[in-house]
Order: sequence, then C-alpha cells, then structure tokens
Amino acid sequence: MYQVNDNYQKLPGSYLFSNIAKKVQAYTAANPDKNVIRLGIGDVTQPLAPAIIEAMHRAVDEMASAETFHGYAPDLGYEFLRKAIAENDYAARGCDIAADEIFVSDGAKSDSANIQELFSVNNKIAVCDPVYPVYVDSNVMAGRTGTYDPATEMWSNVIYMPCTRENDFVPEFPKETPDIIYLCLPNNPTGTTITKARLQEWVDYANRSGALIIYDGAYEAYISEEDVAHSIYECQGAKTCAIELKSFSKNAGFTGVRLGYAVVPKELKCGEISLRDMWARRHGTKFNGAPYIIQRAGEAVYSNEGKAQLKQQVAYYMRNASTIKEGLKDAGYEVYGGVNAPYIWLKTPENMSSWDFFDFLLEKANVVGTPGSGFGPSGEGYFRLTAFGSYENTVAALERIKAL
Ligand code: MLT
Repeated sequence: MYQVNDNYQKLPGSYLFSNIAKKVQAYTAANPDKNVIRLGIGDVTQPLAPAIIEAMHRAVDEMASAETFHGYAPDLGYEFLRKAIAENDYAARGCDIAADEIFVSDGAKSDSANIQELFSVNNKIAVCDPVYPVYVDSNVMAGRTGTYDPATEMWSNVIYMPCTRENDFVPEFPKETPDIIYLCLPNNPTGTTITKARLQEWVDYANRSGALIIYDGAYEAYISEEDVAHSIYECQGAKTCAIELKSFSKNAGFTGVRLGYAVVPKELKCGEISLRDMWARRHGTKFNGAPYIIQRAGEAVYSNEGKAQLKQQVAYYMRNASTIKEGLKDAGYEVYGGVNAPYIWLKTPENMSSWDFFDFLLEKANVVGTPGSGFGPSGEGYFRLTAFGSYENTVAALERIKAL
C-alpha cells in the first residue's frame, strides 16, 4: 500500500493567492454587475514590449523549419541568454559572475521552491515575517519546519524575523543562528528594502556563522534609490554564502511566459561539496529547460530596444505605485513601500484585521488586495496593494477607496 508525503497534510489551508482567487470568484458570481478591480496578486497587465514580441516571432519562425528548429535546450539554458545575463545583470554592475554559474529556469517561483532540495532536512531556515509564502510552504513539504501552531500561525522549526513599522521593515539578525536565510529584496510583500551597507552586514553575518542566504531579487528592476544593491554579489564575500534568484516576470512582464534564473557561484561550497555542481545535477535530472522561444524572448530583454522599452514599462507601474501611495496618504492611511518596489503596504484602518479589511474593500469598493496576515503573523493588521494594474484601474480604485 502506498503512502503519501505526510508533510503535505501539515499545510494549513490552500495557497494564499488560490484562496483569494476563490473568494473573488464567489463575489463576482454573486454580484455580476460589479466592476471589480484586482490589485491583489502581483500579476502584470501591460503587453510584452515590442522588442520581445519581435524576438518571439523570429524564434517561432525558426521552429518552422528543420534547419533552424530547436529541440531540448541545453541543461543550464542557452549560452546566448546566459551570456546576456552575465554581461548585463552582473559585469555591468561590477559583479564577477560567469555564464556557467547561471541556470536558466521557468521562473523564480519554481526556483525558490526547489532550491531547498539541495539541503539537509535538518537545516533550520530563517524567514522574514511577513514573507512570500512559497519559501515556507516548500520547506513544509520537505519536512523541515516542525509543527504548526494555529494560534501563533508559526512553525516550531522556523526562525521568524519580524519586519514591522517598529523596525522600518528591516530584518534583524535572529537570536538563534539559522542554517539557511531567505531574503527577498526589494521585499515582497512590504515593498520596502534595505541599503547596500545593511545587505553587506547580512553577507558578513552569513559568512561568519556558516549560513547560506537564498536571495530573491525578483523586484530588482524597481529600485530607484542609489544606496540599494541590485544584486547581492555587489557585496564583498557574497559568492561564498549566497544563491541569487531572478525573475523575468516583474521587469519584463513574463508572468504568463515564464522565465527566470538562479546564480550558484562556484565558490559556494559546503565543505568540499560544490552547490553549483549539485544544482547542475538537479537541473539535468529534473528539468528540460525553458523553451527556446522564451529564451530568445529573454535575450531581447537585454537588447538596446528592449532595455529602453522596459524602462518605460517599469516607469508606468511605478507611476501607479506613487498614485496609490499618495492617494492613500491623502485619505489618511499609513503607507509604506512603493519607492523601490511595485507594492504598497498599508496599515489597516481602525485596527481592522487584514481579512476584515479585505472583505470590506471588496464589498464596499470592489477592489481586491492581499491581506497582510496571509504572508505571516507579523503581517496582521496590514494590507498589500500592487502597482501592476492598468493606470486607469489604479486611479479608479483609489477614487473608490477615498470615497469610503
Ligand atoms: C505576489 O503577488 O506575491 C507574486 O505575484 C507572487 C509570485 O510572484 O509568484
């Protein structure tokens, strides 16, 4: 008789964004006349940039002829894309990352869930609280998190680093030394970030304590302040303690196209064991590569036209971010984020719980957001709005919220 992975039974409820989608679907089914504006999940709304579309068309045409057809992609991803990433995302910023330390994937969500497979089940993870739920849930599935306490909404074997207005949403070094530290900067969900100097302190801390940092840089394209690092490898010593995950979803609108990459430097070793070689082995065994057409689309992100067009796209979303932030401030809300990230993190009014505010906003303003408590216990009393809507919808949502 087969047995299931019991760790799955420990997961409370369903995935946050599936939960929200179900609630919104039920509301729209019961209220078909309402025009609901979705500022919940961080899904982009603007079309792919013309340079990307052209590259995809060319790649589709190549697939139509035997001479230029492409089958399985190379294990790590096509050289043309890994070289473009190494040159533009790293060498151009003074970071020495080689193309063979870059692993192309179908997105940072899968990478951030899969990367924990490299580590012993005995490792203890540390996460920011609130946090992107995939980091914790994937460790639950692997059996690394102990038991769940529904009263505190915490796992017994996870170190939580609260990020609240009291500490400016900057995680502090935990009292207990973790083995693996997840950092997402600029941060999802709070939309805040830390300075490069502070990130350097995290790198030093990890090297000192023998911990590994899994650094999720999915929102890097939204950084607007000078003293914020675009890659953890801008920090001295990061290559011996950090894996970096990047996404094409937020900087180039690939949420439905799917492309990302992980950087696992050769210097990153656990004793004599190379994590890069382990990830290469895992990639070769479990993954058959992002599609050729999509990797060509990714290459176009780094073309001169692509870069110029995407700069405009990021600016479009950041105009939404400031529209939300300023609009909420005018309406008397306490707001954070939205300067280096496309997320606005607000304090719920009159101490409403995050889910009460979700229902209130959906029913009274027909606007969907994300309850802060869905990201962890320290998110209770907060709420996230995304800047990824259309400008018109963003303005309309703010008008409705102000009118409440
Ligand atoms: C979010 O809304 O937090 C993100 O869109 C989720 C993701 O990137 O997977």
